[in-house]
Amino acid sequence: MEKELLLAASYLKQGMVVAFPTETVYGLGANAFDENAINQIFSLKKRAKDNPLIVHIHDINQVLTLAQNIPPEFYLLANSFFPGPLTVVVQKHPNVPYAVTASLETVAIRMPNHPMALKLLSYAGVPIAAPSANLSGKPSPTCADHVRQDFLGKIPLILDGGNCEVGIESTVINLTSPEPTLLRPGTITKQMLEAVLGKPVLSSSKSEKILSPGMKYRHYAPNAPIFLFDTLQELYQHIQMNPGKTRTILSRVNPTLTQNFTVLSQQNLYAAFRKADENKDLEILIFCDEDVKNDPALFNRLSMASRTNASKTEV
Ligand code: TXA
Ligand code: MG
Repeated sequence: MEKELLLAASYLKQGMVVAFPTETVYGLGANAFDENAINQIFSLKKRAKDNPLIVHIHDINQVLTLAQNIPPEFYLLANSFFPGPLTVVVQKHPNVPYAVTASLETVAIRMPNHPMALKLLSYAGVPIAAPSANLSGKPSPTCADHVRQDFLGKIPLILDGGNCEVGIESTVINLTSPEPTLLRPGTITKQMLEAVLGKPVLSSSKSEKILSPGMKYRHYAPNAPIFLFDTLQELYQHIQMNPGKTRTILSRVNPTLTQNFTVLSQQNLYAAFRKADENKDLEILIFCDEDVKNDPALFNRLSMASRTNASKTEV
């Protein structure tokens, strides 16, 4: 594995794009200061140009090369949550190409908590800009096979670090707005951020569309339409009214359905979506019990994936 990591680092230094594991989802990485390499990420993913990338670091001092006017809140959050599934948006340093930030004056920074990602970053010696390693519109990859499904033969190396522990993308918080604002919910919750900052964190509503451009697209979505149900009764009714359809049913706990069901969790969600696509399922039914609704990160991904009227391009 050491040899592969060194090879991946040398590819990055030569301006190539490689995929690597993080604790959240796999990333499709390139040297953050290499504009050509960054452009390759966008064309490989078929990603909208107005959707900025997260820059990954392994050493807190690297932030000085990426950001300026860094507020004390950044360091409070970094001390508590780096390395970990948190991304912090601060003012961009002039050295960071606009290709990374989609022409914004801000940059998103995160230190992933995965030994392979941290080693890769340290061997490469440069910050790595990386979106999730999926084709735009596909669910994020939580194992190397998912990355192979989308990019085999198109990039020189896919580092295999097994299954991602977290399974959904990092929390994103913006520190460049008048008040700290949550742009994307994740396993690091609003309450955890507020406890460290000692002040309220706003939930982005309208502002998120401008501040976090990626949030306006239909994300995290499999091919099959997704239907969310508040009660099992409604879910059963739907099945009765649509007999003979191949489907995936997701539920947090075994709802004693006669049909097969798949466990609904942050870690398993995207794998279940991709499996449903492989099976050519015609629909995905999801039972959203109170525990699911009380998990803002999971419920956010479900809501985004079930939005049918939004654009199909993605994060
Ligand atoms: O867990 C993660 O964050 C994974 C791993 C690979 O680190 N990465 C990831 O990247 O999910 P991506 O590109 O799929 O999602 C990045 C999100 C998008 O919604 C994007 O709009 C937002 O972060 N973002 C990036 N830079 C931003 C900025 N300067 N201001 C506001 N939002 C930003
Ligand atoms: Mg993504």
